[in-house]
Amino acid sequence: MGRHDDWDEELSKDTKQRRNNRRRRKISADQEYMNNESSEFIKSLDSSKGTGWMAEKKYKRMFTEIEEGLSGVLGDGPFEWVDRRVFDAVFDRLTLMSLYKLMKSGLIDTLDFPIARGKEAHVFHGTGETGPVAVKIFHTSNAVFKNLVQYIEGDPRFGGLKRRHRDLVDIWVRKEFRNLSRLEKWGLAVPKPLGVHKNVLVMEYLGNSTAPSPRLRDVKVIDPAAVYEELLEFLAVTWQKANMVHGDFSPYNIMWHGDRPVVIDVGQAVVQSHPKSQEFLVRDVTRLVEWANKNGLEIELAEAMYDVLEMDLSHIDLIDEEE
Ligand SMILES: Nc1ncnc2c1ncn2[C@@H]1O[C@H](COP(=O)(O)OP(=O)(O)O)[C@@H](O)[C@H]1O
Ligand SMILES: [Mg+2]
Repeated sequence: MGRHDDWDEELSKDTKQRRNNRRRRKISADQEYMNNESSEFIKSLDSSKGTGWMAEKKYKRMFTEIEEGLSGVLGDGPFEWVDRRVFDAVFDRLTLMSLYKLMKSGLIDTLDFPIARGKEAHVFHGTGETGPVAVKIFHTSNAVFKNLVQYIEGDPRFGGLKRRHRDLVDIWVRKEFRNLSRLEKWGLAVPKPLGVHKNVLVMEYLGNSTAPSPRLRDVKVIDPAAVYEELLEFLAVTWQKANMVHGDFSPYNIMWHGDRPVVIDVGQAVVQSHPKSQEFLVRDVTRLVEWANKNGLEIELAEAMYDVLEMDLSHIDLIDEEE
């Protein structure tokens, strides 16, 4: 229990307030109707293993509150893959609690539609107080882990392993948030990090109202030389100024947004002192050189490496915090 105390506290605070509110005015008929409507969905979850908890009173109320905000991903939208299985896999109890928190804070009002699903995370289009946001929800259990768990669970020597796995995921997500912040401070083109709670990361959305911007691998750019220069400088600033290396730099993790490349997926980025940072740097530069050569440029790896390490960046300065 201990670790969710703050959550329970949050709920009981809310419960008290709700009771007070109710004393003051009766729930309107509309509200009553809405509650009944949503409980149909929750009732249907009763039978589903893993989501039965939603029928518990306090969670039920929480879920009812955010259900409308989640309607885009509840399975009746145009995205057929968001079926019950996906819902169960992505929106487990603690994830819904994180969304609840983020919704209460105003960072997210609604989750509108899914953008991408990966092995480690699903990305959704959301809307918050300030407009559209991208919401990256990391899976907290994966098949591999589940497979391991059956051997470990019940063995007293490994108590709390599940929780430790979750903690690891949470740390990973915070790392992606921090990496984004650090890169952004150096003026690099990354989505602006907006917030993070446990396994949910909220950031600037890159795209229009119906679809995310394409990835660099999916577009044919008009001026590859200019894009190459820009990405080379990205790698140079990341290394020389932010003292980091992306670690998974590739046309899959670069979006083409507003006629410019924007780099995403920085969870694995490491600082220079990491034992593998140089190896990662060479790999990142190699990927860029491969992309350049595929796009008609003639670039040597050694030349690109030299540029990343030695490029004059005296014009690049830390961006002051606005607040
Ligand atoms: N800020 C964003 N705005 C719009 N779409 C995004 C954003 N971040 C990620 N995506 C979409 O989600 C996909 C997966 O995101 P990514 O961060 O690369 O996660 P993964 O770890 O699963 O590779 C991307 O290829 C892109 O299509
Ligand atoms: Mg990726």
